[in-house]
Amino acid sequence: MHKLDINQVYNGDSNLMIKSIESESVDLVIIDPPYKIRKKTDEINSLAKAVKKYNEELQRDNLINEYDKSILEELVRVMKRINIYIWCNGEQIPSYIDFFVNKYKCKMDILVWNKTNAMPLFNNKYMTDKEYCLYFRKGGYCNPQCYEDAKTVFYLPINSKDKKKWIHPTIKPLSIIRTLIRNSSKEGDLVLDCFLGSGTTAVASILEKRNYIGIELNKKYYDISIQRINEIKECDK
Ligand SMILES: C[S@@+](CC[C@H](N)C(=O)[O-])C[C@H]1O[C@@H](n2cnc3c(N)ncnc32)[C@H](O)[C@@H]1O
Repeated sequence: MHKLDINQVYNGDSNLMIKSIESESVDLVIIDPPYKIRKKTDEINSLAKAVKKYNEELQRDNLINEYDKSILEELVRVMKRINIYIWCNGEQIPSYIDFFVNKYKCKMDILVWNKTNAMPLFNNKYMTDKEYCLYFRKGGYCNPQCYEDAKTVFYLPINSKDKKKWIHPTIKPLSIIRTLIRNSSKEGDLVLDCFLGSGTTAVASILEKRNYIGIELNKKYYDISIQRINEIKECDK
């Protein structure tokens, strides 16, 4: 297989394609792999039904199946120094700490996206109103340039406009990804996202003048990412 070119997105399985990325070539990794979620809900009202329908949609598109964690070793191989953001849910946190802190002796931070318009479902549980983004680094670069960029909690609504436009059910806010890129890389650096979805990391890299490589398994989302990248390049001219 050929080496992967920079400023390209690829349609394929990242477990295989990552093997074509050169060792110690990537400055920053931002990934948002599928997370396993509990599908059980005791509520039977219309909101709960909407959540059930949403979860079925995620399941169908392979967005809530556990992924092959052996890719973490490959990510360590391709990074110049460990410098990685990983979106995850609470249950996944221990396994990432085990890998990056216990095994690779990284420093870590926990960032949180607080969804200010989360669904009001709290029967016998807390609301699902946040997502975690773990940051691990070992000599990696974290240098926020202003007070706002240094904050670790992002208060932002689920952006239903972007969600609708780019048809990805778990699209991340572009502004958060831009902040992570600004804080942990420099202009011209290479950013890798091998669970690219609708292309948020690639678009944020272009806007922040970084290079990128994206990999997405699902052809539908891959096509959307290309469309999104082309649109942003057109606006940038
Ligand atoms: C949570 S979504 C990422 C959403 C993205 N952050 C965005 O803003 O659009 C995870 C993506 O990983 C993709 N995926 C799952 N397994 C994969 C694999 N083995 N290789 C590449 N992509 C994969 C899924 O198709 C899905 O689009």
